Amino acid sequence: MAFDIEMIKKVYSQYDERIKAARQIVNKPLTLSEKILYTHLWSGNATEAYERGRSYVDFAPDRVAMQDATAQMALLQFMQAGRAKAAVPSTVHCDHLIQAKEGADKDLARAKSESSEVFNFLSSVSNKYGIGFWKPGAGIIHQVVLENYAFPGGLMIGTDSHTVNAGGLGMVAIGVGGADACDVMAGLPWELKFPKLIGVKLTGKLTGWAASKDVILKVAGILTVKGGTGAIVEYFGEGAESLSCSGKGTICNMGAEIGATTSTFGYDAAMERYLRATGRADVADAANAIKEHLTADPEVYANPELYFDQIIEINLSELEPSLNGPFTPDLYTPASRMREEAQKNGWPTKVEWGLIGSCTNSSYEDLARAASIARQAVEKGLVTKAEFGINPGSEQVRYTADRDGLLKTFEDLNATIFTNACGPCIGMWDRAGADKQEKNTIVHSFNRNFAKRADGNPNTYAFVTSPEMVAAIAISGDLGFNPVTDTLTNKNGEQVKLDPPTGDELPTKGFDVEDPGYQAPAADGSSVVVDVSPTSDRLQLLEPFSPWEGTDLKGLKLLIKAKGKCTTDHISMAGPWLKYRGHLDNISNNLLIGAVNYFNDKTDNVQNQLTGEYGAVPATQRAYKAAGIGSIVVGDENYGEGSSREHAAMEPRHLGVRAVLVKSFARIHETNLKKQGMLGLTFADKDDYDKIQENDTIDILGLTEFAPNKPLTLVLHHVDGSEDCISVNHTYNAQQIEWFKAGGALNIIRANQAK
Ligand code: F3S
Repeated sequence: MAFDIEMIKKVYSQYDERIKAARQIVNKPLTLSEKILYTHLWSGNATEAYERGRSYVDFAPDRVAMQDATAQMALLQFMQAGRAKAAVPSTVHCDHLIQAKEGADKDLARAKSESSEVFNFLSSVSNKYGIGFWKPGAGIIHQVVLENYAFPGGLMIGTDSHTVNAGGLGMVAIGVGGADACDVMAGLPWELKFPKLIGVKLTGKLTGWAASKDVILKVAGILTVKGGTGAIVEYFGEGAESLSCSGKGTICNMGAEIGATTSTFGYDAAMERYLRATGRADVADAANAIKEHLTADPEVYANPELYFDQIIEINLSELEPSLNGPFTPDLYTPASRMREEAQKNGWPTKVEWGLIGSCTNSSYEDLARAASIARQAVEKGLVTKAEFGINPGSEQVRYTADRDGLLKTFEDLNATIFTNACGPCIGMWDRAGADKQEKNTIVHSFNRNFAKRADGNPNTYAFVTSPEMVAAIAISGDLGFNPVTDTLTNKNGEQVKLDPPTGDELPTKGFDVEDPGYQAPAADGSSVVVDVSPTSDRLQLLEPFSPWEGTDLKGLKLLIKAKGKCTTDHISMAGPWLKYRGHLDNISNNLLIGAVNYFNDKTDNVQNQLTGEYGAVPATQRAYKAAGIGSIVVGDENYGEGSSREHAAMEPRHLGVRAVLVKSFARIHETNLKKQGMLGLTFADKDDYDKIQENDTIDILGLTEFAPNKPLTLVLHHVDGSEDCISVNHTYNAQQIEWFKAGGALNIIRANQAK
């Protein structure tokens, strides 16, 4: 599948010299994260020590990975950059656009026909620009990347927030917007604020029902959805080495749920086993040759408090199986306390569905451990009380799991095997009866459980847990079931107990696959034609955004003051809207429709200041645009948390929103706003959020002297004639200010290519 061993050897050949240079400059032992970052500086050997959480640094990533939903916009942008080929090895993975309904074969055939235009576009644009293309059904991006491309000590970016999954194979892998991917494929440096470092020391060993998933569920409970913001989480200790490679991937994957920049583990025997099992013995050999550089310096793990900004210690031997949710992935409840918590909080305990899959937990090991529970259920005369669905992570996993009888085991329990794709995890799930919006509970092995995410029903209580717990709870049909202590009644009326899960970390007979679903790009793509129909409602070529007019922005209307959680799902909803990811004007009709209006507690209902009428957010914004009036969006804490989709920044830009002012931003979204030439601002005094009134007209002053670390001023003109003047901060550096002035980063890239 064309993983690039020569590229990897080149990266490793620079390691020794670059790490020595970094150690000298930083003047202390280095963590693994620092080693990877300092060996990937755009400028070569380190010449200065960067300040964590403050310095903006240019990096040279080794790879780019894109999924089909985000790749459309990333590649539409890349086409505007004027290059013949992607500058670094890159791949596209078709996994988000396949709806789970009847089972793999029918669902895949339907998706291929419904989204043929998009798949053809991605296939041809990949073919033209030297990009590897993984066809629909080949698997979920992060599983395919782990199986084929991730390598210890590498630096990768991906247009999906769970790109971080590759930390399971010792990478620093970071989710970005399509605009960042476009920059790197265009041969430009990639900028990141040098992250803080959180060390997680794992002691002991998992036993019984506890799984790798329980490590990250526990960490999420400790750190919450914001606790990892701006930081790399580095796992170490004897407990870390006891975990399988795909288990480490699960832990890193859900680092996205604590807002972490990424997570990673040092290279170890489990990673070597995984590399060899997935056909990459030469990568394992190359990694072994520089092994000491692929983990932190020994002094770091001996005295971690001296080298990390924060330390957490978890004893794996004490971990219990657990579930996080509902509605947020950081609400941690051990299975032993779930019945009591559910009763106390009114969570429905009857479980309707158990779903195994997503990039988080769809490895061979995950399926094997869950199958060991399913097998027992059949053998012990149990019948599943809930419905049961499985999305394998890749065709390689599916084919091997089928060969080894794992899928048959699930089918014996009436499970539906869906496509090797995201499916319900991204809301691509035609769940019968979801439109009735009944209160119900589901359990899944995914990573996110925001309201409406899986099935569009706001009353679905979704709980995140390990695949083996999904199997056990689906069988029991009871959220409060704790397999460690509880028994179940079988067909004969007997009480039976499920034994703890077992399962091979890697298939004992090796992985196998007939057709992995990969298309290599043309050696010379210059004659490949990329077709985008002007009448398409799925794809639309981009027009450059206008540059800044050179003046302060005056007379902006408040579009919405969003209350509470406002994730990228609230700003640019997924589910049915996924199909418009390549058509900016059409997808803009979902702008902020999930955000709660502070003034009436309703979603998608704001006052149009021109008419006084209440209406949908996108229609209101289009009315302002038609009148030539700019607007501003106000938000709460951690605005834009969730995914890396730049649509959440491009849509408001396209419809004429000029600024987003919030208490705090999620990192990726803030960067995405900057890339699109938007103003992303934060309240200097968070209490000023309360000063924003429903009919405010707002001026942004100070833009003619826009400079790093220099606050701007906002004047709030209230309808009663009174005014408030508030100070707002920003994190724009000099280059990002140029993006703002040019109307977006792409306008600068294109101008530079033309020179
Ligand atoms: Fe897909 Fe869900 Fe992962 S949408 S990439 S399986 S988080």
